[in-house]
Order: sequence, then structure tokens, then C-alpha cells
Amino acid sequence: MELVQRTDRHDGVAVLKLSNAPVNCLSKETRRRLADALQAVELDSTVTAVVLMGNGKAFSAGADLKEFDRPDAFMDRDLQHLILAQIESMTKPVVAAIHGVALGGGCELALGCHYRVANPDAKIGLPEITLGFMPGAGGTQRLPRAIGLEPALNLILKGNPVSGDEGLRLGLVDAVIHEDIEQGAIAFALRVATSRPLPLLRDKPIVHPNAVGFLDFVRRTVKADPHAPPGALSVVEALAAAATLGFDKGLEIEFDLFRRLAESAEAKAFRHVFFATRAAGRVPKPARRMPALATALVVGGGAMGRGIAVSLLEAGLTVSLLESDGGAREAAANWIRDHYRRQMEQRRLSPERMEQTLSRFASVQRYEEARDVDLAIEAVFEDMGVKLDVMRALDRAIRPEAILATNTSSLDVNELAAATGRPQQVLGLHFFNPAQVMKPVEVIRADKTAPEVLEAAIELVRRMRKIAVISGVCDGFIGNRMMTQYLNQAMFILEEGTMPWVVDDALEKWGMTMGPFRMLDLVGNEVPWAARKRKYLAHPHGVYPRVADELCERGWYGQKTGRGWYVHEQGKRRPKPNPDAAALIESHALKHGIPKREVAPNEIVERCIYALVNEGSAVLGEGIAEKASDIDVLLTSGYGFPRTRGGPMFHAETVGLTNVLRRMRRFAATGHGDKDFWNPHPLLVRLANGAKPYAEAGECR
Ligand code: COA
Repeated sequence: MELVQRTDRHDGVAVLKLSNAPVNCLSKETRRRLADALQAVELDSTVTAVVLMGNGKAFSAGADLKEFDRPDAFMDRDLQHLILAQIESMTKPVVAAIHGVALGGGCELALGCHYRVANPDAKIGLPEITLGFMPGAGGTQRLPRAIGLEPALNLILKGNPVSGDEGLRLGLVDAVIHEDIEQGAIAFALRVATSRPLPLLRDKPIVHPNAVGFLDFVRRTVKADPHAPPGALSVVEALAAAATLGFDKGLEIEFDLFRRLAESAEAKAFRHVFFATRAAGRVPKPARRMPALATALVVGGGAMGRGIAVSLLEAGLTVSLLESDGGAREAAANWIRDHYRRQMEQRRLSPERMEQTLSRFASVQRYEEARDVDLAIEAVFEDMGVKLDVMRALDRAIRPEAILATNTSSLDVNELAAATGRPQQVLGLHFFNPAQVMKPVEVIRADKTAPEVLEAAIELVRRMRKIAVISGVCDGFIGNRMMTQYLNQAMFILEEGTMPWVVDDALEKWGMTMGPFRMLDLVGNEVPWAARKRKYLAHPHGVYPRVADELCERGWYGQKTGRGWYVHEQGKRRPKPNPDAAALIESHALKHGIPKREVAPNEIVERCIYALVNEGSAVLGEGIAEKASDIDVLLTSGYGFPRTRGGPMFHAETVGLTNVLRRMRRFAATGHGDKDFWNPHPLLVRLANGAKPYAEAGECR
């Protein structure tokens, strides 16, 4: 199919449609075709006006991000700029007709047109900052001219798109089209066909009472913000150029800043996560497909059960929540109703939507009341005995074709499946807490799970707007199993005499959203304690850091008990170091004869992060994870691993697998903590020796 399709109408309007499915990315070839098509309509005397739009579901999702890693990615910088200059020099009006999305380069293309019209629910914006770079084709120069300096700065720094309606209010679009976008845009083009001069954003002044002072203030704020995204300062500089140096100089400065960012390690890492997220949960089409899941039962009205129920409601399902205890049942139902009421009060939801959503929710007392559901998810206490009882009860009560899922975070899903008469319809759906907020869901494929059941579950996760990561069965699945090794290293480092806050600071400075001990205090130290106690019994000869056990024995679970590694004072956001925890760590080391040594921040980071890499290699080598990129998606979306580093496996490749291996062998030789753990997994060794990336792990297993 032609990348740009042209239709000529008898009334003189030529419609050019970008046709690069699925989202009309402006690949180099598409841009070339567009330049040719624009030239042709300009030279055609029968054409009086042009409508530029997208075929299919979008105007354009912008530059083709896959092309960014090509060696010639930014060589022909003028191509996009030339198209925009070409439009600006045309003698007939070009109307950008926006439906679906106009993002990044797509938005910049629209900004270069003489007019913009959009459907009310179109999404228009410059999200580059969320991918570690910034607009590079005039976005920072034309947007402030269209909507003003401050609104443009907000839009570019946040990266959130605005709707067509909001775009009209801001002055980003000239008209909202409520009917068919093509017909509406043609009618608009006919109205402006003879109007002259043709309006150009490049000619508009940027009006601001004190642009220099304002941008100086923003510059200082961004510099002082440790959480400012990479690229924030460059955006400010580009806007400063727009405000003070004129359009052409501004374009030049913008492109230089853009190129530097787009080629940076951080932006590469962001792109890796972008594509990895889209590749996660991709399974071959099963021979038989299940109908889309429409009704569900959630067993357990605790925090997890409630969050899962809300997520299912958001996906459009009719949901029953089962709690046998009357008080707990009412509390759970009230929580869900309050959740939606709050959403409505915050204007995130219309009263009608709230009513409609809640009409699909009911709380029930007995399994039989939800006999006909398509899916049942248990979210009861994390104990094999309790979960086995629930799975058996579900198997007895729920219709035989239904899927039964467990929300366990570590227990053996094969054992739970075997307790039912339908193991092929059993799988794990491991939601993260709070389930209504957190994006990742580990979809646990048990030995007998049927392909169509796996596919139906993944589809459901997508409908919840979450990310499905497939995992095989093992203790802790992918994420918690890897994090156990990360936390073990952090604990060993404590036992060697480094304080929790020093470990936390080192890892947070490196980019982790939260250091391990702040995280443990938040989640509750008793949660991994219970898992450790199970491990001590199952593998009594393992080497374990036991310092955290002493903390838990004192009841210092963290935030919920007021103290853990830190002291948590009511109403204070930042907890203070717990001096008693420091004393406990020192006496623990003394009691166990662990020599005290200074662990440098660099070693803290390497030991904790390479522990993830080694365990990630094991998870991959054993086939628990299907792809290294799945691990990266899970760790960045669920465990606070910095997206600027792309996930542990991508990070290891960035450092170089041979370098990682060398450090692991050094840790094994120094013998701190569990030295056997530092025997690198054979998959890692094979990849490093063969100079192969994790993407080729399949052949090296
Ligand atoms: N470059 C390359 N590929 C892109 C892309 C881009 N800018 N935007 C989307 N795609 C690809 C996706 O990788 C996916 O490919 P796949 O089917 O092979 O996995 C496909 O287009 C559909 O995207 P997906 O995200 O699965 O669809 P969606 O309907 O949920 O969302 C968008 C569509 C456009 C909202 C979303 O893809 C997006 O935000 N894209 C990035 C936009 C952006 O940041 N542009 C700035 C670049 S200058």
C-alpha cells in the first residue's frame, strides 16, 4: 500500500492520508512520500486546499522510534523540517485533520500545517519527555506560539496529551469536528480555501510579560529537582531559545538538544522499555479461543481482593466479591463504592459512569451465588492450606468451563491446580499491591494451563490496561524471586556493618525509586520474614542473612508498627533512621563473628543490582521467564527499577556482560555473604563468552 494516499475531490480539495499502519509513524520513507505528495498537490492547479490526515485509527504516533537506533537516524535532520518548511511555503491551505492520536512528530506535523481540526476525544501532545528525549521538529518553537509559553512548557514537561476539546480551548486546534473527521475537515478546508494570508505559527510572537525571568525560575526549579526527567532542562533551554532568539535560531538549538538526548543512554533505555512492554504477554494464537471474559468472582475482601475487583470493573466485567464474614463483606463493598465516589468527586468519572460501573458490582456470601461466572480469582491469605480449600470450593461451585485463578505471590500454582478437577483451566494472576493502581500482573502458566486459558487471561489483563508478564511456576515467580536475592545482598551488606540508610541512599542515588530498607518498612518486614521462615525449613543448609529476623522478632515491622529500620512518626513523610536498629545490626554482627568493613556505594549498587542480573539469568535459563525483556518490563513497572537504565538485563548489557561476570567472580572470591550465589549462572557465562545479547538466550539455554 502507498504510504501516503491521495484522493482528489471535484470541489478542489485533495485529501492526503498517511497510511503506515498501525499508527502512521513518520518513518523516513513515509516522510519522503509525504514530501513528494505535498509537492504534487502544490503544483496541481486543480487543487485549492489540502486535508492531511491519517488512515485507520490515528493521525500519527510521530517518529518511528525503531529508526532511532539506526546509525543514520539523525543524519537527514532536514527531512521533517523540510516538510514543515514546505507546507509553510505552500500557496494553498493545508488542514491537519486529527483523529485518534497526534503525538510527538505527529503533533509537530500538525503544528506546521496552516490549520488544525480535531475530533473532541483526539489525543494531541508531545510525550517525548516520557521517553527520555524532547521534541526535535519544531514542537518547542511552534507550540508556545500557538498556546503561550507557560501552557506549552507544562504540556511538554509533563508529556501528557490534551483532548481535541482541550486543544480548542488552548488554541492548539482551530475547530472541533464532532462528526466524521474527514468530512468535517473537508468542509473546513472549503471554508478557508480562499482566505489569505495563510496563517503560520512560525510568524506568531510569543507573548509573555517576563519570559526571561519566568524561564530562569523554571530552570532553577528543574535543576534543584532530583526527580526531574532527563531532558527537562533541555526543554527549558529550547523554550528559552524560542522566546528570545527567534524562530530559525530556535529550531537549530532545539534540534541539537534533541539529538543529544535521543542518542543518550537514558533515551535508549526508555525505548527498550517501550518496545519490551508491547512485546510482553505476546503468545502464539491458540488453536481454540475462549470468548472474552465478561463476569468474575473475586474471593477475599482484603486490600488485594478489593483492588482486583476494581481492576475487573474497569475492564468492563460484572464482578462479585465474596466474603463470608458479614462485617468484612460490608467493609469491602463500602471501600469499592467510596473508591468510585472519590473518583467522581475528583471529576475523573461522570456520575453516570459511576452508577453504570457500580451497577456491575455485587458482594456475595456464598460461592453458589456466583456459579455462572467466566472467571474466579482467589485473593485470600497467603497460606497453602487456606488457598487449597478455596480452590477446591471454587472447583465444586463454579461452572466447569470457568477459569480459576490464584493471586498467590509465591505458592506452587501446580499444586493448587492439582487440587481441582480442571487443572487445564487454572493459572496464577499475581497482581501487585495496590492492585487498582499497579500496572504489572504476572500471569503464571502452570504445567497444565491450556493455551486458550493463558490467552484469555492475558487479554483480560490488557483490558484492565495493565501489563501481562508471563511466568512459569517457581518460588516467588519472576519478580519476587529476583527481589529476594537483591534483598539478601542488601542484608549481607548490613551484616558487614553498613547502615540501612546508607544502603538506601546509594541505591536511590543510582536510580531505584526506593531503597530496599525504606521499601521493606513500607511493605512490612514480616512479609519476607514469613517467606524466609518457609525457606529455612525447606533448605536448612542455605546461607541466609538473618539480621532482619531479629528486627521482626522485636515486632519492628516498619511503618505499620511505627518502627522498623526507620522510625516512622505520625504525619511525617520522611522516616528517621532507627538508632535501635543500628545497635541491633552491630550486635548481630558481633554475635555471629562477621568482620566489620566499609562497603563503598559502588559496591552496594553492584552487589544488589548484579544479584538481580544473576537471578534474572537463572529465571531466563530455566525458562521461567520467556524473554529477558519481560524481566525488564516487570522490574521497571513493578519494583521501582529505573526506566532510565532499562531494567536489570538491559543494564547488564549496557555495562557489558563480561564486565558483569568479572565483578561477580570478584564477589565470589572475596566471600562476603553467600559466596556460592556469585557463581554466575551458566546462561550468563555462555552469553558473555559468545558475545551474545540476552535476546539470543533461547539458543543458549
Ligand atoms: N514508533 C514506532 N513504533 C510505534 C510507535 C512509534 N512512535 N508508536 C507505536 N508504535 C508501535 C508499537 O510498538 C506497536 O507495535 P507492535 O504491534 O509491533 O507491538 C504498535 O505501534 C501499536 O502500538 P500500541 O502502543 O500497542 O497501541 P495503542 O493503541 O495501545 O497505543 C499509541 C498507540 C500511539 C498511543 C502508543 O503506541 C504510543 O504512545 N506511542 C508512542 C508515541 C510517542 O511517544 N511518539 C513520540 C515519538 S516522536
